[in-house]
Amino acid sequence: MALQLIPDPSLAERTTLRLGGHAEVEAVVRDAADLDELGTFLTRQTLRPFVIGRGSNLLARDGRCDLALIRVADTPGPVRVERTGERLTVRCGAALGLPGLLGWAQRAGMTGLEGLTGIPGTVGGAVAMNAGSYGVEFGQRVSRVRLWSPAGGLTWVDADRCVFSYRHFSAPDLPAGRLVWEVELLLDESSPSAVRRAMREVYDKKRATQPVTARSAGCVFKNPEGDSAGRLLDRAGMKGMRRGHMAFSDMHANFLINLGGGTSAQALELIELGREAVKTRFGVTLEMEVIVL
Ligand code: EPU
Repeated sequence: MALQLIPDPSLAERTTLRLGGHAEVEAVVRDAADLDELGTFLTRQTLRPFVIGRGSNLLARDGRCDLALIRVADTPGPVRVERTGERLTVRCGAALGLPGLLGWAQRAGMTGLEGLTGIPGTVGGAVAMNAGSYGVEFGQRVSRVRLWSPAGGLTWVDADRCVFSYRHFSAPDLPAGRLVWEVELLLDESSPSAVRRAMREVYDKKRATQPVTARSAGCVFKNPEGDSAGRLLDRAGMKGMRRGHMAFSDMHANFLINLGGGTSAQALELIELGREAVKTRFGVTLEMEVIVL
């Protein structure tokens, strides 16, 4: 299938915060053959490439962005490829939603990912950000990742050649500008009912402490060493703080919420306000977790 190029893609429509103007173009990749065309396309233009999944960790600026979005679509679903004792190797394409992968693992009675219940991104995004919650990080279960770059094409990289740390992934031996294409995970055998129970527990905990159904991009700031950005923002008076139609959640202060009709300018103003308040009150400089486009 030919590489699809969509002009003027709306960033608001492609991000869970529903903010932002338009990028210049979006290249939609459907199979490995499209990657060759993508390589040619990228070398012929000067826009900044940015790989977008479900946009659940992004804050896109208002107005135009000089970006070429790259989106992988129609990815192969998860398949079991190998068993070693009670460990199962599962392979899955990057564009699959993380909730879809977790649902599949639950039905197949495979344990290891339950802590990630309620995270809305793609499998590729979960690699790229090393998504984590409730003591589980995606990278802990990765055995190898298939990466693509214009210079190197598709390459499998074993987990021991990857760096997975707090909300960070890199593959130092490979050229920059990579796209996550596929991943293999090591999961353990369990039963569908036990996995369902564990997922339910995580989701109930999450729903009680995080605004899971609001338009947000998850936690805005990374947690500083040994503390919680949400706790610091809360103590600094940011819970419920509002600018226009954007607000810090009154449930969890590290979530920015689009109340409907919010703008990126309002979001960025709140981010600065929160950062300054925490710096003044606690002497801690918060770092962004959400990526600003
Ligand atoms: N807290 C407050 N006020 C708030 C928010 C939190 O006092 O407004 C307190 C809580 O009472 C608790 C502590 O801060 O004592 C920690 O809060 P929570 O358990 O909600 O965890 P967190 O540190 O705020 C992290 C991750 C979440 C992840 C949860 C659960 C980061 C930045 N956040 O939140 O990840 O879901 O733990 O494991 O690492 C994300 O990355 O987008 C995200 C939501």
